[in-house]
Amino acid sequence: MSPAVTRTLPNILITGTPGTGKSSLSRDLAERTGFEWLELSKLAKDWSCLSGFDEEYQSSVLDEDKLLDTLEPKMTNGGKIIDYHGCDFFPERWFDIVFVLRTDNTILYDRLQERGYTGKKLTENIECEIFQTLLEEAKSSYDEEIVHELPSNSQADATSNADRVVSWIEQWKKDNVK
Ligand SMILES: Nc1ncnc2c1ncn2[C@@H]1O[C@H](COP(=O)(O)OP(=O)(O)O)[C@@H](O)[C@H]1O
Ligand SMILES: [Mg+2]
Repeated sequence: MSPAVTRTLPNILITGTPGTGKSSLSRDLAERTGFEWLELSKLAKDWSCLSGFDEEYQSSVLDEDKLLDTLEPKMTNGGKIIDYHGCDFFPERWFDIVFVLRTDNTILYDRLQERGYTGKKLTENIECEIFQTLLEEAKSSYDEEIVHELPSNSQADATSNADRVVSWIEQWKKDNVK
């Protein structure tokens, strides 16, 4: 049975290396569609789903189990946009479609520097994009047919990506809502 059967709206996963534009796209989509945007890097803190601090990476450690337990009931009816720079620990059944944002290295470098990233944190995120880590992670975690790459280098890309997701949602409704 398709997981979509139990939902009246689809759930969408927006993933990609930090700085590729996940939150910008998600915010735009939430405004246009009324879907609920769940920015997990922020919500993990609000929901006390952080279990420590990694000094080496200068970032908090996520309590994945607690985050998943908190999210589970929210995902049931659909209409959710999950925004996160990881995708392999969510249940596969949660999502009807997965978008992986991609940004050219030089553009991403400038965006992350502007965000204040330096040293190891900066280089590791650039490498993450060069090695297309999130794309591979998405393809190995979900049916490849539902995983789509979206270029996110320019404002024109941002507009066409949002249009594309909105059209996809409209089509999903036609196909799934009786
Ligand atoms: N398609 C795009 N074209 C140009 N700039 C973008 C695009 N998407 C995002 N940005 C900019 O890049 C920066 C990072 O975007 P953000 O949405 O915070 O990324 P993420 O949530 O993936 O870390 C922001 O300053 C944002 O305005
Ligand atoms: Mg973000």
